[in-house]
Amino acid sequence: MLTITEATKLHGEIILPGDKSIAHRGLILGSLAAGKTTLRNFPGSRDCLSTASCLRALGVEVSIKQTGEVIVAGTAEKGLSPPRDVLFAGNSGTTVRLLAGVLSAESFESVIDGDESIRRRPMRRIVEPLTRMGASISARDGEFTPLKIRGGRLKGIDYALPVPSAQVKSSILLAGLRASGPTKVRENIPSRDHTERMLRAMGAGVKVRNGSVVIEGGARLEGIDIDVPGDFSSAAFLIVAALILRNSELVIRGVGLNPSRTGLLAVLKKMGAEIRVEQAGKQKFEPLGNLKVRTSALSGTVVSGDMSTLLIDEIPILALAASQAQGETAIMNAGELRKKETDRISMTVSVLRAFGADIEEFEDGLIVRGPSALNGAMIDAGGDHRIAMMAAIAGLVARGKTQVADDDCINVSFPGFDETLRSLVS
Ligand code: S3P
Repeated sequence: MLTITEATKLHGEIILPGDKSIAHRGLILGSLAAGKTTLRNFPGSRDCLSTASCLRALGVEVSIKQTGEVIVAGTAEKGLSPPRDVLFAGNSGTTVRLLAGVLSAESFESVIDGDESIRRRPMRRIVEPLTRMGASISARDGEFTPLKIRGGRLKGIDYALPVPSAQVKSSILLAGLRASGPTKVRENIPSRDHTERMLRAMGAGVKVRNGSVVIEGGARLEGIDIDVPGDFSSAAFLIVAALILRNSELVIRGVGLNPSRTGLLAVLKKMGAEIRVEQAGKQKFEPLGNLKVRTSALSGTVVSGDMSTLLIDEIPILALAASQAQGETAIMNAGELRKKETDRISMTVSVLRAFGADIEEFEDGLIVRGPSALNGAMIDAGGDHRIAMMAAIAGLVARGKTQVADDDCINVSFPGFDETLRSLVS
């Protein structure tokens, strides 16, 4: 149980645990590469540990040091081994979907499954294209985990994504890496591009043009060193906290600033946020920098179209910011949010309502009318890490005491969230 009381300010300077999306990809691509891949500032988040344990079960040596350094021994020469048991992805959709792409190119049979939340998440979106490439996959009711996968000789496809999803795109690209011929993935709305960047950095032929990504099959990947930038999606909670708490000033160093992830910055700036962005060079293939954030008077805005995809994971915390902004904020075209760890549209609405916010739910989004004075609340985040962290930040601006019941789920993406928050607020 996390107990939060009203704070007067947030002040300080921090470096955040590494980006979860980049860390998953470093582990997976490092496993397929020749030689060693080293990840520094590995987040140690439960989702990334799930990927590491699935890879170990496939015969990959992954050594995780106390210092946050991880070494993956690539298996380009010896290949992956058949797992002895079901691969357990825990709460991590990225693990299931990306590994399904890898396993589709393996001739042995494997089964991948996850926790209760994973068992409710849609998988037909990967089963369909991977099957088209030649894998044989059976899903529970055609849609859900456990997925039983037997792969083998794959052939490249030309595939238009029916939903904007980096996980689906990455799953197909990982299968395409070991398929014959080129594989093309077309996306109408651009999703995060960490897979494309890392594949290229490891030596694969990947071309990005006019909304499509093409990978040439059969490339040999070479292991690399990756300094994982701080996770922008974790930073988002602290950025909003600093904006809405009086007298705050926060510096976040070395955070990932890949433009496919930082939609929240553009929206907050449009709302009047004072956020200074200092580029700190490109860490080989992923941009990163420092952010300086101060308390700001915010006003309402409209978020729709591509932007909703660019900040999909940040919508719950953006809705909290909107509850403290002057006027109305509408967030539209965000239907995918209902397919995350929980139905995050309905969870965001019910949690913010419990604090006293004026918020209305729509099929593909929500409307928040601000500013509202929030009151402390008892929150059950339904096992969803991003909802739990949003509720904790709301607790800092709410009057009285807030309790977040199942705060353990925060470790899925941001281990040390509680300590970090307590070191910054007073
Ligand atoms: C992720 C992609 C996003 C995001 C998730 C992580 C990834 O999902 O919500 O937290 O690492 O590829 P989509 O596949 O729906 O884009």
